[in-house]
Amino acid sequence: MTLEEQAAALIRADNFIDGEWVPAQSGRRFAVTNPATGKLIVDVADSGASDARAATDAAARALPEWRARLPKERAAVLHRWHGLIREHADALGALISLEQGKPFAEACGEVVYGASYVAWFADEATRIYGDLIPQQQRGKRMSAVREPIGIVAAITPWNFPLAMIARKIAPALAAGCTVVAKPAEDTPLTALALVHLAHEAGVPNGVLNLIAASRESTVEAVADWLADGRVRKITFTGSTPVGKHLARESAGTLKKLSLELGGNAPFIVFDDADLDAAVTGLLAAKFRNGGQTCVCPNRVYVQSGVYERFAQMLCARVAELRVGSASDPASQIGPMINARAVDKIARHVEDAVAHGATVLTGGKRLAELGPNYFAPTVLGDAASTMALCCEETFGPVVPLFRFDTEQQAIDASNDTPFGLASYFYSQDLRRIERVSRALEAGIVGINEGALASEAAPFGGVKESGYGREGSKYGLDDYLSIKYLCQGGLE
Ligand code: SIN
Repeated sequence: MTLEEQAAALIRADNFIDGEWVPAQSGRRFAVTNPATGKLIVDVADSGASDARAATDAAARALPEWRARLPKERAAVLHRWHGLIREHADALGALISLEQGKPFAEACGEVVYGASYVAWFADEATRIYGDLIPQQQRGKRMSAVREPIGIVAAITPWNFPLAMIARKIAPALAAGCTVVAKPAEDTPLTALALVHLAHEAGVPNGVLNLIAASRESTVEAVADWLADGRVRKITFTGSTPVGKHLARESAGTLKKLSLELGGNAPFIVFDDADLDAAVTGLLAAKFRNGGQTCVCPNRVYVQSGVYERFAQMLCARVAELRVGSASDPASQIGPMINARAVDKIARHVEDAVAHGATVLTGGKRLAELGPNYFAPTVLGDAASTMALCCEETFGPVVPLFRFDTEQQAIDASNDTPFGLASYFYSQDLRRIERVSRALEAGIVGINEGALASEAAPFGGVKESGYGREGSKYGLDDYLSIKYLCQGGLE
């Protein structure tokens, strides 16, 4: 079966508002294409302000009933949704591969990963505790309860079309909020399939609404949510400039924000590291989704004593990576999302070479495979003057920087406005303690390259944003604390 055939039953191309599939009010549509071939998959509703407003109206109507449900009733709906996602894992995987390009096996892994957030937050719904505050005055009882914040607007990226929206919608619904959502213009189909399954699972009309929009229409649609005082929270994963725009534009109605923004992750290999483990960890972290992941290592710092050996070991493994279409079971890396992405990667490699880097393997487009492929690449002798040191490449390029002392590695790692993930490999316990505390990042991988888990708090510091997704902390962003002070008890 082709990916198209596998995904066909789940393809929806209209907006989902108040339990109905509806076209954009303007009648406009935009093309969603397969990044492997550039070919059209389907034309999707292209929403503007009036569609965004209709979604908010529906979410506002549905809010009182949904927030009044018992947590275990909301949990039951989420568990049913989780079950349906797992049941349709192959079709969802095919859809992810089709519109985003990641190899099918990896896409099915994303389905399981995304679904794990739904199961996690279903359980967390039943653990939204408050506090009885130790008595301060006679005759008074003081307590703190946690309440749903209200309507949540979720704006999600293309790199994990299922997992990123699942880990925003699930905690919002678990907390008792209603949702308006807009997926990235490159990958709306997985999100639309997911809301279809949520509806099947019994999420009531209006509780979850999703609109699609092209790049051009997105600003207008989202502006409506930013200005609408009924929308109490924005949760966004994407670039730092867009995150700053959302923070500025939502200030007028003082919304709560969770921003999971860009990274520029360092990956440090110390002389005392287990080099085999470091190479394996780097491959897992760097080449996940072809390097299109916010937590991908962007700068690899290798201590002088092991630099040459590490570079050789790494290049041997990178040269073996299989690049190809998502439907080929042998593929480990698929196409990049679009032409802009490939152009940026090519620009970073050219700029690095112009500033003295050496291409150790890869370094070029793979036009023979299709329009958006780039070879897995290792660059030696990278330096801080190169664009790839301060910008996120978001592609399969590993630049190797040489360093001598621990302090140099820490200083270079922290010399960035970003602070999402960082990684280091060392077998010295004292160094592990020092370096893990010194790195300015929300997430630190210590002798480990695979960090993703629904049970862990995901999020950054500095200009990588604020708020946490997943874990017991992930619900906090969707709740507000109400203090109750009851008098006259004596
Ligand atoms: C991201 O790229 O933003 C998410 C990656 C992850 O969940 O590990």
